[in-house]
Amino acid sequence: MKEFYYPYLNKYLQFYQFSIENSEDFWSIQANILPWFKKWDKVLESNGNFHKWFIGGLLNASYVCLDQHVINNFNKDKIAYYYENELGETKSVSYYQLYLMVNNLATRLKDLGVNKGDVILIYMPLNIEAIVSMLAVARLGAIHNVVFSGFSKNSILDRIIDSKAKYIITTTHTYRKGKIIDLKSNIDFIINEYKDIKNVILFDRKKDYKIDNLDPKYIVIDNLDGYNYIDPVIVESNEPLFVLYTSGTTGKPKGIVHSTGGYLVYVANTLKWGFNLGYDSIWWCTADIGWITGHSYVVYAPLTLGVSSFIYEGAPDYPDPSKWWALIEKYKITEFYTSPTALRMFMRYPLEYIKKHNLSSLRVLGSVGEPINPEVWVWYFENIGNSVCPIIDTWWQTETGGFMIAPFMGIIPLKPGFASLPFPGVVVDVVDENGSSLNANEKGFLVIKKPWPGLMKTILNDEEKYNQIYWSKFKGWYCPGDYAIKDENGYIQLLGRADEVIKIAGHRIGTFEVESAILENHKVAEAAVVGVPDEIKGEVINAFVVLKQEFNHLKDNVNIHNEIKQTVRDVMGPVVIIDKIFIVDKLPKTRSGKIMRRLLKAVLLGKELGDTTTLEDEASIEEVKHAYQELKQSLNK
Ligand code: WTA
Repeated sequence: MKEFYYPYLNKYLQFYQFSIENSEDFWSIQANILPWFKKWDKVLESNGNFHKWFIGGLLNASYVCLDQHVINNFNKDKIAYYYENELGETKSVSYYQLYLMVNNLATRLKDLGVNKGDVILIYMPLNIEAIVSMLAVARLGAIHNVVFSGFSKNSILDRIIDSKAKYIITTTHTYRKGKIIDLKSNIDFIINEYKDIKNVILFDRKKDYKIDNLDPKYIVIDNLDGYNYIDPVIVESNEPLFVLYTSGTTGKPKGIVHSTGGYLVYVANTLKWGFNLGYDSIWWCTADIGWITGHSYVVYAPLTLGVSSFIYEGAPDYPDPSKWWALIEKYKITEFYTSPTALRMFMRYPLEYIKKHNLSSLRVLGSVGEPINPEVWVWYFENIGNSVCPIIDTWWQTETGGFMIAPFMGIIPLKPGFASLPFPGVVVDVVDENGSSLNANEKGFLVIKKPWPGLMKTILNDEEKYNQIYWSKFKGWYCPGDYAIKDENGYIQLLGRADEVIKIAGHRIGTFEVESAILENHKVAEAAVVGVPDEIKGEVINAFVVLKQEFNHLKDNVNIHNEIKQTVRDVMGPVVIIDKIFIVDKLPKTRSGKIMRRLLKAVLLGKELGDTTTLEDEASIEEVKHAYQELKQSLNK
């Protein structure tokens, strides 16, 4: 592998030291990246585990993303987004055009009665109108709640009830692998079920879809042409910009609330540090806006920095696995950011799909969402990056707002499989159960020891959960729930989740939610799911299911497997796929009735029991052994 030259490493380490020893001064300097209407009175104010940043600072996110570039004529005509979809339709919008569209939509929303602090649910595929919707909501000081367009109607309903959204912005349909995916029918269901919805803005895409039986709550829009100006609503730095739901270990998804000022300061700086984007960059972050990566690095960070981005509405390998590489060549992408799952999928195919395209425009590559295996890292480096593009492996979470651990571009030497060192201002460690720092190469819990501006504000409607989930395991430190090791040089390698969260194709899925979905099938009495390693998706779901007595005769019938899989799909949407189902007579449980998941996993992976006995609190070794044997026999039957 090619050696890079790192002349600035020592200088950088001094800079890092400054950033953590003089944290408030450091963040105060970084905050100047935004065009504030009024600067803050105080950098940080902490109250227990709740932290406020840039208190008294006034701004508006859509002004930050658009007006600042339009007012300075220099960037006005610069392209904000190049867009293409599976049908081959293309569109590009300049900063000024985007600004006009946002003003138009914001004016309409205002006319419908949307006010500062209202929650607006956005259910849209990845396209320009979706981004316009987010920014229009932000322009009014309202709060967006984007729901991934691959989620089911039940997922939308849960989120709309929890966030008390009164308006929805959606579109008729999207395209995926040559199929038309209807979105509107899910919203029809919502309007029927949840009477508090005042209005739904429906983008009519015209093609391939006929709108009929329209509920009067719908306002149909087929273009955002014309000129309308509406003043951006000024918000204080700590007022919320959005809520985004994410899976946790128990219960329904949690509404992660992000602030405006701290969040924008954080995402803009981290994108700059991670990818060193230039004025001529054409940035492609492949994430959907339904996830945090889309929020931070498709929308808010690139627009704040005035960068040109590319977005694609469609599947990566349709009509064939050269699609993405053809797009990189066509749009001359300079920085490319994707997930290990996508890379592992492409690795299955012959290299010809890549080699027939000229990828020489690429300068930097990035990875996110799950650990990147060293082999995948090297494959990415050699085949996509032509052995010259650094790979920026970024570790972070919905809750952290932006990158936390990643090699500062061009400065930190790279090590395959390691996210490397914490970013400026971020203090991390790897500790044992008691919070003591571990030695090099010992596996433990990742912790973050200092607050940073991108940290979420709270969990919507549940401050107690916020305290309990993230801050109770190690008092005063943020606990993200990941395992990690630190090498001799302090480089961090992430080793996956330490809790009941499964990462399927980089998507975060809570085991509890999947189990609840399985239980929606009326033939099922009990269910337990575990994530098991998968060569492409990182992890997949296997489910253990106990049928109700009256359906026990179906135990060996393959149809019941398909039926349960379908139930999960209906309840959660197509992202959640169960790989294997095992119908068993009973589930192994502790005395207090907790399912012994680690034991289930051990049986599936053919691991010896020795690895698990100590992990099952509450149960005696004898009980665990017994449960293990029983389950093994049941699977062998
Ligand atoms: C995992 C996605 C290893 C991790 C931005 C984390 C990673 C969870 C990486 C958050 C990475 C994310 N290496 N693991 N580079 N990036 N993760 O909220 O387990 O969807 O806790 O945010 O993804 O997932 P989320």
